[in-house]
Amino acid sequence: GLRSYLASCRQGADGAATTQAGRSLGLVPTMGALHEGHLSLIRRARQENAVVAVSIFVNPLQFGPQEDFHKYPKMLEQDSQFCETAGVDVIFAPSAEELYGGRSGSRKDILTQVIPPQAMMAVLCGPHRPGHFEGVATVVAKLLNIVQPDRAYFGQKDAQQLAILRRVVADLNLHVELVACPTVREASGLALSSRNQYLSPEERSHAAALYRSLHRAEQAFHQGIRKSQELISIVKEELSTVAAVRPQYVELVHPETMVPLAEVEERGLVAIAAHLGSTRLIDNIVLSAR
Ligand code: PAJ
Repeated sequence: GLRSYLASCRQGADGAATTQAGRSLGLVPTMGALHEGHLSLIRRARQENAVVAVSIFVNPLQFGPQEDFHKYPKMLEQDSQFCETAGVDVIFAPSAEELYGGRSGSRKDILTQVIPPQAMMAVLCGPHRPGHFEGVATVVAKLLNIVQPDRAYFGQKDAQQLAILRRVVADLNLHVELVACPTVREASGLALSSRNQYLSPEERSHAAALYRSLHRAEQAFHQGIRKSQELISIVKEELSTVAAVRPQYVELVHPETMVPLAEVEERGLVAIAAHLGSTRLIDNIVLSAR
């Protein structure tokens, strides 16, 4: 099984035994359609661990009934090639049946789920994606328990997911170190995402407004603007210059607790969700006084 295979990988990984990596195992959880953003997580895991595992699983539990579960890009063959080139040792790509035994659809009322703190789900994507973070927390807890990595790698791109998972790991005493990795962007500033595949070339150029608006807020912050209302207005104003971008929210919260801030003292997370046509994109930036 997977467990004994992973154990044998660790046994065999003696090349790194004298380094910091030791015989440690790093896990990069993904939903596939892998891109340079995922690659940066894999590279970091590769640097810090003797064995690197990537999970590929489009988790039905974290998609709402009106969301893109059925059209989410599936390309396991290409992803496997991508992982091999990146030096990944193990790909874990379970079926929904394997993970949930048919209880991720209409029968999820008989599934044990991990419920993150309501307060952390009351902001940003939480209200717009009911059930989403319960689905993420549940599947990540399962993946961590199955693979039992020493470290697991997550992108700052999904800042609320990262903050919530840190709390889940702390609150459930999971024996894993979460490692946060910076957002990888195109030259235009657009954050890489598997969902960028849905964008037309025109929408893709419009989508650069998301990062541009966050960058404006960052500039204002460094010029001394601290009030959330003002920083949020700057973001909204820049977004409004591109009619095709329809903002869902622009919010400013504490990066770890997700508590809404009236003013940024040390650190603040400015986060956006916006629709371009039928595609929903998110992005964020951390403002830091130091
Ligand atoms: P997915 O969207 O495939 O993302 C997998 C990981 O890659 C996440 O930690 C995400 O934050 C990171 N990532 C995506 N785009 C990135 C970018 N441009 N720069 C840096 N990191 C990036 O997030 C999920 O899958 C799922 O919710 C999952 C955690 C796997 C649970 O199902």
